[in-house]
Amino acid sequence: MKLLISLVLVITATLRVNADWWQSGNFYQIYPRSFRDSDGDGIGDLNGVTEKLQYLKDVGFTAAWLSPIFKSPMADFGYDISDFYKIHPEYGTLEDFENMIKKAKEVGIKIILDFVPNHTSDENEWFKKSVDGDPKYKDYYIWHNGVIDPTTGQRKPPSNWLSAFRYSAWEWNDVRQQYYLHQFAIKQPDLNYRNPAVVEEMKNVMRFWLAKGISGFRIDACPFLFEVELDRNGLYADEPPVTSGCPDPDDYCHLQHIYTNDRPETFDMIYQWRELAESFKKENGSDTKILLTEAYTSFENMMKFYGDGTRKGSYVPFNFDFMGNVNKDSKAVDVVQNVNKWLNAMPKGKDFYPNWVLGNHDNKRLASRFGVERADLLNILLQTLPGNAVTYNGEELAMTDVFISWDQTVDPQACNANPNNFNDYSRDPARTPFQWDASPNAGFTEGSETWLPVAQDYKTKNVLMQERAPHSHLQIFKKLIRLRKEPSMQDINNLSIKAVDNVVIYSRYTQNSDRYVIILNFGKTDQSIDISAHFPTVRRVEVITTSIQSNYNDGEVIDATKFVAKGQVGTVVVQI
Ligand code: NOJ
Ligand code: MG
Repeated sequence: MKLLISLVLVITATLRVNADWWQSGNFYQIYPRSFRDSDGDGIGDLNGVTEKLQYLKDVGFTAAWLSPIFKSPMADFGYDISDFYKIHPEYGTLEDFENMIKKAKEVGIKIILDFVPNHTSDENEWFKKSVDGDPKYKDYYIWHNGVIDPTTGQRKPPSNWLSAFRYSAWEWNDVRQQYYLHQFAIKQPDLNYRNPAVVEEMKNVMRFWLAKGISGFRIDACPFLFEVELDRNGLYADEPPVTSGCPDPDDYCHLQHIYTNDRPETFDMIYQWRELAESFKKENGSDTKILLTEAYTSFENMMKFYGDGTRKGSYVPFNFDFMGNVNKDSKAVDVVQNVNKWLNAMPKGKDFYPNWVLGNHDNKRLASRFGVERADLLNILLQTLPGNAVTYNGEELAMTDVFISWDQTVDPQACNANPNNFNDYSRDPARTPFQWDASPNAGFTEGSETWLPVAQDYKTKNVLMQERAPHSHLQIFKKLIRLRKEPSMQDINNLSIKAVDNVVIYSRYTQNSDRYVIILNFGKTDQSIDISAHFPTVRRVEVITTSIQSNYNDGEVIDATKFVAKGQVGTVVVQI
């Protein structure tokens, strides 16, 4: 029996050591247009990314996923691709790309690209040929004659479907004399996934970039891949309006997207892409090629992205349930409930990891949503939960959003709104240039112009300053990432978490390793907490890291029975 137990211990230990590169990984989202501009045109580029890979390594990230870098007229800042095989000229050349991959390998950062399968640009050759009725391409997109309004006798769009960016999802094309579907901007026609040639075409795109040495894809807009099929009369069914809350008939939220989102075929497509990634690995003896999936959808659907019990899907189905539910009004119990919700529902087994997301280029920055005072607390939460963490560039510095006036607004989603409400829709504020140092334009560019304005606080909030300061958001972040490498933090099955009034408290511990306790006060007032009442072996603790405005210092030794959790402060301690 004893022998058996030690054997099991040895096996688990080995398994842990042999964890695949992405497991419990730390993912960093780079928004290339705003990260670092190497040539002074005010627009970030690939050489800029290459230059900063060492920074990512120094902070401790595992991998970077890059928003699209492919040729694009930039109607949706790269999410409208006119050539899936070319690098966007403002961002560099294929050679620059290869150079970036080479450097990433040297430094030890995996590169993940954005795969945008749902739509192309209307300037893509495929679309142009489709417009012209070229036999190979004519069914690459969703075309329809529209319907004749019985009262006016006028032609109108085939259905009431709306674009996520507002107004009809159908656009008339004069040359082809038909409507095409675009679930995003007019310049982003939807591909037709019921056409096997499209499926194969897009698989070839994936194979092309995998062969260039990337380590996987972040997959864009998954719920939109398939629409309902035509009915018996050759028509598309209208979507029902919501019952309350969104009266404006042009606004995307006005309809229940039952015919354009989350169709069952979507999951099969994701599982096919997983098979592709796995075959690529097998055939080439490469590292694991992973998939991260973007889907704002129901919780049940998010789980289906992992797999269906028989087939596997996404390695990292972005946990937007967490991002959506944990907000500035969340209480400790809400946070605990949302953590457990994911952990309990996700499939079990060594191939499945939880993940935690609190930001990206489509949402207000974390420090703006929660307040700068709570930025460290949230970074601590993200980095100390079991599994994969995903950080949007700048969150490690607690960068905040920048107000962009209506005149300066470029985000298509905001441009479709009006001067009074555009700010509710605009994603520009979260996309301003990264703040590297206190030199003009924050060290983002040596040029005098930037595509979006640089935040005014860049002289006091930037990488260089935070690297030099003994206690800064970045220093806290670095400590957290170092901590993640500890066995207790790598074990994903050891979380014991609870809410005590305003405080979230949890421990991470695995045999033969250290026990960590994380104490996060989501309230505004101080709260005393006896750690030993929750984790009886813990009598004395030492502070590993804690929020900037903490009442404790790193390295401080504390009596665990008398811990004071200051309002809005997060602390990681180790049992001593
Ligand atoms: C999701 C992307 O993150 C967003 O930026 C983009 O506008 C849409 N998908 C359309 O591609
Ligand atoms: Mg540039």
